[in-house]
Amino acid sequence: MKHFISFHSISRKDILDILALSKKIKIELKNNIHIPYLDKYVLGMIFEKSSTRTRVSFETGIYQLGGQGLFLSSRDIQLGRGEPVSDTAQVISSMVNMLMVRTFEHAKIEEFAKFSRVPVINGLTDLCHPLQILADYLTILENGIEDPTIAYVGDGNNMANSWILFAKKMGIELRIATPKGYEPWQEIIDDAKELSQISGAKITYTNDPKEAVKGADVVTTDTWISMGQEDEKETKVKAFEGYMVDMDMMKLAKEDAIFLHCLPAYRGYEVSEEVLEYYSKIVFDEAENRLHAQKAIMVWLDAWRQKDG
Ligand code: CP
Ligand code: NVA
Repeated sequence: MKHFISFHSISRKDILDILALSKKIKIELKNNIHIPYLDKYVLGMIFEKSSTRTRVSFETGIYQLGGQGLFLSSRDIQLGRGEPVSDTAQVISSMVNMLMVRTFEHAKIEEFAKFSRVPVINGLTDLCHPLQILADYLTILENGIEDPTIAYVGDGNNMANSWILFAKKMGIELRIATPKGYEPWQEIIDDAKELSQISGAKITYTNDPKEAVKGADVVTTDTWISMGQEDEKETKVKAFEGYMVDMDMMKLAKEDAIFLHCLPAYRGYEVSEEVLEYYSKIVFDEAENRLHAQKAIMVWLDAWRQKDG
């Protein structure tokens, strides 16, 4: 069965199909055309971490598709008290049509997929956040940028890892700038090295944000303190000095470059107030695109499920 867990198992064609469907579904919504693609479906949504965008976009999205979302906080379900993932996955997937999981360890979501009878969607793990990248790429395309050079400035976290996996599949140019010691995960870097030759991707790593941003079409960043890393705040804020995306940094990018942020944003840390304000229309369109892209992913996964029988 097809799941949406990481770009490891999603092809370039899959990505293009989902993006095309996202555009179609977005146009339908904007024109008040409501097609019940997933009539009476229930989407189980397990959250082991906080969320605003992911939760609201999925709950709204499944409703607009004719179904219903079921919010399951690990604080409330037995998973949080130690019920095994295998049991939880088998039980919940015997009652719902699709399952979204936001958790810490990536291995956990893979285990969910192993025991689930229905498609599983990664709502973010410590390793990657592929849903966000699809919404981001949709936003890039909507801004008329076709073959982007993307500069990611900041922490080598789940967003950086996801951009690498995505760039590798799509054959695009990606420059990652992180402080020493905060590079993306080695397993991701190694994996990208192998397959980039095939796709033609150009992925580079530097400790100099200015070098990364120079001439880029898209500049993006993410919080320096991901969920679960709250204790590291003091050390990280020191290590990331010089990594804030401010107007001086944006001036090094192409004149018509855009700025993206997956949100939540921490003004005065990874991004200046001024940059966020200046590019706010794009950043909030990017957040809205989570809704359209995820509706497309659900419809696309269901088409695969039907095909697989
Ligand atoms: N960008 C993102 O995933 O936001 P939430 O944590 O609010 O879901
Ligand atoms: N890197 C961040 C992304 C939040 C959407 C985190 O994992 O907390």
